[in-house]
Amino acid sequence: MAEISERSMRLGTENAFVVLAQVNELIREGRDVISFCIGQPDFETPPNIKEAGIKAINGGRHGYTPSSGILELRQAVADYIMRTRSVKISPEDVVIGAGAKPFIMYSILATTDFGVGDEVIYPNPGFPIYESQIRAMGAIPVPLNVRQENNFSLDAGELDSKINKNTKLIIINSPHNPTGGSIPLHDMKEVVDVLRKNPRCWIFADEIYSQLCYDQKFVSLSQFDDLRERLILCDGASKTWAMTGWRLGFAVNQTLAPVFSKWVTNTESCASQISQWAAVEAFSGPQDHAIAMKKSFLERRDIIVELISELPGVKCLNPGGAFYIWPDVTEACNITGSKDSEHFRIRLLEEVGVAVLADIHFGTRVSENEQHIRFSYAASVEDIKSGIARIDDFLRRHI
Ligand SMILES: Cc1ncc(COP(=O)(O)O)c(C=O)c1O
Repeated sequence: MAEISERSMRLGTENAFVVLAQVNELIREGRDVISFCIGQPDFETPPNIKEAGIKAINGGRHGYTPSSGILELRQAVADYIMRTRSVKISPEDVVIGAGAKPFIMYSILATTDFGVGDEVIYPNPGFPIYESQIRAMGAIPVPLNVRQENNFSLDAGELDSKINKNTKLIIINSPHNPTGGSIPLHDMKEVVDVLRKNPRCWIFADEIYSQLCYDQKFVSLSQFDDLRERLILCDGASKTWAMTGWRLGFAVNQTLAPVFSKWVTNTESCASQISQWAAVEAFSGPQDHAIAMKKSFLERRDIIVELISELPGVKCLNPGGAFYIWPDVTEACNITGSKDSEHFRIRLLEEVGVAVLADIHFGTRVSENEQHIRFSYAASVEDIKSGIARIDDFLRRHI
């Protein structure tokens, strides 16, 4: 029989999509499910951005573009980086892609070789695509734990202990999916000291939640000038402007820009031209909608954290960014006789119709004595209130 490649067999997935399929199945069966699964804004793309996309279609601007993207957008990205990070970059160093996600694969491809022992450090728990792509590209995944006791920031000492002569790439994600943690300036400086000691390692800064940082100023790795040469700065339109389905992201690095462009030529050819013109408007047009969405996420974060902290057996930190919370449900598992967070998650879905994700969907548990689930609070206040009330009922039935 014809065989499937080892590379493909190594591919993981994003379990949010798997759980979403379960949720949709239950809804089709007529069940009433409140979902906190999917990591995307629950808003429509702002009207001025939609209009820019429609204008591109009607103006006949829908053919291929250069693989690196239209110059107008690369310039808009450079202006956006200046506005949000006070960092000057050249549009020449920017490559546009179909979302931020493809740059995870391109960066691993550009910095490691298959099966030769190259190592990539990535956050655990973390966006599942990191580990999946590291494995599929034949590199060795080296998890770096993101711990509750560190407020879901990074421990520079732990990072230091993971780096060796085989380390080729270090992935850092702040604000962080799935915990919502964001690395404060003090911790980031310690991380940067470790990075400085290791000048052969590339750094991938996944800053897709850069504009959703609530309690403190967003700290970008691009602000440390001496790292810039080997820093791959990645961000995009999905989360800030509610544009997940438009598929538009970018990466910035002077040396790797031509390499990324070549990978884009070899894969998607270019990002959709329509989405590129819409993104010019997103990055450079009026920001009132983006600001209003952020304000709404913050209000919802405060509501969900307050409500969830009142649940018996649940502890929840107040995370500083993105739209996720990562409550500790160890005691709630004990109360309800659930074997672990995944069993607890399944019971929430089946018994009270509340869909969340479990820690195992984002890597290996940092400690078997600590069970977590993830809520995306990109949901209506009404859903947040009734979803948490259902969990409250479920828990109190077992006390
Ligand atoms: C940490 C992280 N990086 C990257 C992405 C991908 O974003 P995009 O929609 O731009 O591909 C996501 C999406 O959920 C994410 O959570």
